[in-house]
Amino acid sequence: MDPRSVIAIDGYASTGKSTLAKMLSKHYQIPFVDSGALYRGITLFALERSFFKNDEIDEYALSKVLESISLKFGFETGELYLNGENISKKIRLPNVSDHVSTIADLTIVRAFLLNQLRHMASENGLVMDGRDIGTVVFPNADYKFFFIARPEIRALRRHEELKAEGQKINFDKVLNNLIHRDQSDVNRKIAPLRKAEDAFEIDTSDVSKDQVFALLLEKIDSK
Ligand code: DC
Repeated sequence: MDPRSVIAIDGYASTGKSTLAKMLSKHYQIPFVDSGALYRGITLFALERSFFKNDEIDEYALSKVLESISLKFGFETGELYLNGENISKKIRLPNVSDHVSTIADLTIVRAFLLNQLRHMASENGLVMDGRDIGTVVFPNADYKFFFIARPEIRALRRHEELKAEGQKINFDKVLNNLIHRDQSDVNRKIAPLRKAEDAFEIDTSDVSKDQVFALLLEKIDSK
């Protein structure tokens, strides 16, 4: 594979996109970008600045400071920094997951991040995961994949991950959050979640990550 290639992985929440994107990044020695982390970073910023009032976002207040927000991935580590602070752990907190769909719905936020995401691939190849990478961010990506999996399986995996990180959260809350985010992703007016026509769909419900990895390599290396 040409190292200047762009690999796009889209799909539903917790279908294994980031895990597999990281494996591909290591294998092909190209950077990995978790686009969802940036939406989470803006959400954290809005929460910390109290831009949410009764779960409603003050879009005007956010729009005035949006351009001043610096979100950067650490070189090699992949950790995310918001105005210099490492926020990699904070962006996974349930409060961020509960508010991120509202932020991802905003035209100003999508335009701001679209520009940043596109810049990341201006010279180098990369593997990026998200919801609209193969449809909107990189419609000409060299390789496109679309991950799906049954909601209960996804919630189970996410629940295990959160527990391993030391977070106490019940299974139903994780499942409800996933279902809510699915609906919001699919019904969004701008850049909704959908499979690009030329994307290869993979159901990760009943297969291991190594099996998915093998399938991805086969598809990429045979093209
Ligand atoms: O990948 P994730 O679950 O961490 O993403 C968090 C949220 O960000 C997700 O619920 C939808 C939004 N998102 C988006 O709208 N577009 C993307 N390309 C990536 C994420």
